Amino acid sequence: MDKPQGAVSRAATGVWHWVDERLPISDFWKAHASEYYAPKNFNFWYFFGSLALLVLVNQLVTGIWLAMFYKPTAAEAFASVEYIMRDVEWGWLIRYMHSTGASMFFIVVYFHMFRGLMYGSYQKPRELVWVIGMMIYVALMAEAFMGYVLPWGQMSYWGAQVIISLFGAIPVVGEDLAVWIRGDYVIADATLNRFFALHVVALPLALIMLVVLHLGALHQVGSNNPDGVDIKKNKDEKGIPVDGIPFHPYYTVKDIFGAGMFLLLFAFIIFFAPEFGGLFLEHDNFVPADPLVTPEHIKPTWYFTPFYAILRAIPDKLFGVLLMGLAIVMLFLLPWLDRGKVRSMRYRGWMSKLALTLFVISFVGLGYLGGQPGSELQTLMARLFTLIYFLFFFLMPFYTSVDKNKQVPERVTH
Ligand code: HEM
Repeated sequence: MDKPQGAVSRAATGVWHWVDERLPISDFWKAHASEYYAPKNFNFWYFFGSLALLVLVNQLVTGIWLAMFYKPTAAEAFASVEYIMRDVEWGWLIRYMHSTGASMFFIVVYFHMFRGLMYGSYQKPRELVWVIGMMIYVALMAEAFMGYVLPWGQMSYWGAQVIISLFGAIPVVGEDLAVWIRGDYVIADATLNRFFALHVVALPLALIMLVVLHLGALHQVGSNNPDGVDIKKNKDEKGIPVDGIPFHPYYTVKDIFGAGMFLLLFAFIIFFAPEFGGLFLEHDNFVPADPLVTPEHIKPTWYFTPFYAILRAIPDKLFGVLLMGLAIVMLFLLPWLDRGKVRSMRYRGWMSKLALTLFVISFVGLGYLGGQPGSELQTLMARLFTLIYFLFFFLMPFYTSVDKNKQVPERVTH
């Protein structure tokens, strides 16, 4: 029997029923949380999807506050950021939450993608979850790139100069395209204005829509898990997967714990190392943009350096640009390159394990080299890692089909 209710809670229940009959909130909650069955063997690697969501919200909220004080003009942008840091109450905190959040976003997303590679989460039936994820990744890169231009420091200016001039390498239309993107013959006020518009309106909107589609596609087919076992194959008499547990409360609690741990680390960085030794906020970006003085060593923020290293490893500019683009295209194609009958690395043979290990080493290696000045030895290393990076994808149809996989269990293990 229901507990006797007071007048206020009776009224609240009445309002709730009135709304729920007109807007299917409780049906939605049941379908996607309290009666949504997720595999019961999620591990550490399954924290990063919800953490990505948390960081996205952090970026949106702190971004709105920054936009209240930031001035998107070449004359005022740098000073307005300094004003936020020094004079706006709690402005330094908001700005550091946003700048640290940008780097944390990529850390979380790289872990999230690695999980997908490790457990074959991109394989059938989750191809679209992966492809939409990749679209998110590309949108995120555009968002981060444009955001970095906004403080209008030396690295904002010259980083944008280098990246946009890459479009100039495209035959015939390249130069016109670069002018069209900049809105001027050099990086200028017009560039800053449009990057601001794209950074605060267009791309966040696109990101939100893509994340909704990402989760919609995931819930249509259900999550994979560390064993790569299809939990929908084993259902009880009520049609509930025997290896599934309701997302709420089990995984809401688990994700809240993950969020707590993450926030501890996040706060530590914000309070003690917001520049992170020049990795999260580069030293050159504390100097106002000066079109007449080129910084000694122009390099992108750490999360772009693997691709930057591929670009620099190739002597021909156009070929370098194409290869850099191909490095991302290959990731999109992953679901169709993998011919393996087994999803999770736990049950794959040594070839797939070795390939993934070498791929991770090459990606991290490229990331390191992309942030270095680029000596002869470093260029040589970058070429080697670029080769390994692409071999991982090009050879995948072969090694995944001949690899000696282990027997996958019927039920999930603990
Ligand atoms: C803003 C960025 C992103 C958000 C908020 C996000 C959110 C999520 C969430 C909440 C889940 C379910 C929980 C989990 O499995 O961890 C998930 C699953 C997944 N995501 Fe993402 N994601 C993002 C980016 C990406 C990217 C860049 C990729 C890959 C290119 C990706 C690929 C996947 C895959 C394959 C799954 C299913 C994993 C499995 O079932 O094993 N996501 N995502």
